Amino acid sequence: MSERTLVLIKPDAVRRGLVGEVIGRFERKGLVIEAMVRRTMDSELADQHYAEHVDKPFYPPLKDFMTGGPLIAAVLSGDEAIDVVRKLVGATDGRAAAAGTIRGDFSLSNRENLVHASDSTDSAKREIGLWFPELAD
Ligand code: PPS
Repeated sequence: MSERTLVLIKPDAVRRGLVGEVIGRFERKGLVIEAMVRRTMDSELADQHYAEHVDKPFYPPLKDFMTGGPLIAAVLSGDEAIDVVRKLVGATDGRAAAAGTIRGDFSLSNRENLVHASDSTDSAKREIGLWFPELAD
């Protein structure tokens, strides 16, 4: 079943010149880019996007990192896109992520881990509504 997911190519990937590498992996898999924009996350959007994490101890440094430079937000679509994208991205901590995944190949961190991807149909719907309200259903 075709579905949509939200991806953020995080500020570390932009800074390191890895945007093309990351987007290329998604495209070569067969996912379709429905929308894409370069944007710097502000404080309010960070708190909304990470609503479930705002009270966690790791949130302040995560917020500093995510608001600290431009990122690329994109909506990708395809068959089982939410799960497929999470598999391509790999485990949260780049040190533990499998080789062959984006994080496994390019990250040594659980914060500077290159990509955020929606983890469920509910979070995809919510996050697409936050970043691309014109695509909300
Ligand atoms: S949880 O609590 O299991 O739901 O958290 P998790 O899914 O592992 O991670 C949620 C996001 O928080 C980031 N993260 C961190 N940032 C900074 N410091 C530490 N220690 C840390 N641990 C987790 C992680 O990169 C996830 O970001 P997103 O954007 O959701 O991928």
